[in-house]
Amino acid sequence: MIDTNKSQEGQPPLPMQGIPQPTRDEVLKLPRVHISSHPVMAHKMTALRDNNTTPPDFYRLVKEIGALLAYEATENLALDTSTIETPLQATTGYRLAGGIGVTPILRAGLGLAEGFREVISDAQVWHLGLRRDERTLRALEYYNRLPHQIDLQVCYAVDPMLATGGSAIDALNILKRRNIPRLCYVGIIAAPYGLLKLTQAHPDVDIYIAALDESLNDYGYIVPGLGDAGDRQFGTF
Ligand code: URA
Repeated sequence: MIDTNKSQEGQPPLPMQGIPQPTRDEVLKLPRVHISSHPVMAHKMTALRDNNTTPPDFYRLVKEIGALLAYEATENLALDTSTIETPLQATTGYRLAGGIGVTPILRAGLGLAEGFREVISDAQVWHLGLRRDERTLRALEYYNRLPHQIDLQVCYAVDPMLATGGSAIDALNILKRRNIPRLCYVGIIAAPYGLLKLTQAHPDVDIYIAALDESLNDYGYIVPGLGDAGDRQFGTF
């Protein structure tokens, strides 16, 4: 367990030490932020946060929560209409207009992307490798499989933990260079600090999350949070 309050003498300050953070109430009014209020989500979130949940169950829950978030985050997608034949007669049918892209920020975003694919099986998956420099908390790009041919109506950047917002901001900067008509961010838990930073950097992006937590500790972990979402999915403790 990380002790959030201890500052070590003679050591450089911890990444979030002494940095003011907004409260939940301050960010709850932000436009474009959608926080799930579904009871099934709350139920699954409790199991996800539980320290006794094993990596296989944790990964399964991330996928299930990803599917629920995908359902919520696709509420406004555009549709094309066409006439189809049922066994009985002709009727109007609806299909999602244009392609749907999902960009998992590696590696913690992988489970969420799988959940998305259970809802939209033909979603394109664009992997993006960003990792946090634990000292500065800045995001470093180490892998990029974004295609050159782009025909999407929307792309969802997915990463479970919106902590300082650094990776999410960088991922959206990278995606914006691809001229995708609409971008969204989907995460499981956000800290008020990261939510505010992301909204300030990308005010045009809709943000869908399952829960808004209290704050970041001095190390940049979300509290109460769930610990390290990558390690808990892949069993690398
Ligand atoms: N990344 C995580 O996996 N957990 C946190 O609490 C913050 C960032």
